[in-house]
Amino acid sequence: MDLRHCVIPAAGLGTRFLPASKAVPKELLPVLDRPVIQWAVEEAVSAGATDVVLVLAEGKESVAHHLLPDPALERRLEERGKQRELEAVRTAGHLADISIVIQAEPRGLGDAVLQAADVVGDRPFLCILPDDLSVTDPPVLAQLWQGYERHGSPILALARMPRSEISRYGAVAVAETRGRDHRVTDAVEKPRADDAPSDLAVMGRYVLTPGIFDALRQTAPGALGEIQLTDAIAMLARSGPVWGVEYEGTLLDVGTPAGWLATNIRLARDDPTLRTVVRSALAAASA
Ligand code: G1P
Repeated sequence: MDLRHCVIPAAGLGTRFLPASKAVPKELLPVLDRPVIQWAVEEAVSAGATDVVLVLAEGKESVAHHLLPDPALERRLEERGKQRELEAVRTAGHLADISIVIQAEPRGLGDAVLQAADVVGDRPFLCILPDDLSVTDPPVLAQLWQGYERHGSPILALARMPRSEISRYGAVAVAETRGRDHRVTDAVEKPRADDAPSDLAVMGRYVLTPGIFDALRQTAPGALGEIQLTDAIAMLARSGPVWGVEYEGTLLDVGTPAGWLATNIRLARDDPTLRTVVRSALAAASA
């Protein structure tokens, strides 16, 4: 079945970024020249999604505004002959068809994804947590969709983590390995290091099938008192196939202030127009 939707949960309070995220949602913080949300949508589009479903909290509608056309701004830029800026604004406003659903209460990632059920309907869909950027070719979501084409089941992005870090993630138990693909038999959200079923962590990118919505409706609050997507995926894994793909390349953290800063520096260092700025700023700082 053809791919259409990508669900992007962006309803969180952004506590880790306060005070920067007091009035500006963390998804609108810039990484180089564009906000985090645009990187996520561009990755979804490059994997084949045409429609994006943003799950927002009340008051975070500005995240959607970045992705909608702004004819008045486009007209003003056109009148002033600002061609480069016009192109950038047009690109951001026409990446995908955007729908918004509101998560009324902060009841967890699983509950956020469930809010998208009516828009997504009866098709497999992508889901991306915009806390990491993929700068790999093909991007991680595209690698997952290739996994879906191999297996026809839900697909999780997996990466190996040191035991000391696994309790920050969802971790999976696997039964069968084919190259970089692992068949997932169980998943545990935020396990204690000693209880983690393996060192394979779920990395915030998924292909999900419509069955996830029923599983979410049956999922009770779990880790942190929240309805966890990982628990609903574990339920699916008990009744049918679920696969994980150990993706190629790395994801860059933009979900913590330190990660966001490091990612900006790293990408700026690799950008031909910003490379010299980074070098001279670092040289001046160490002089
Ligand atoms: C979420 C998921 C978790 C996943 C993590 C990293 O947790 O619940 O399973 O491992 O993202 O992508 P959060 O970082 O929101 O606590």
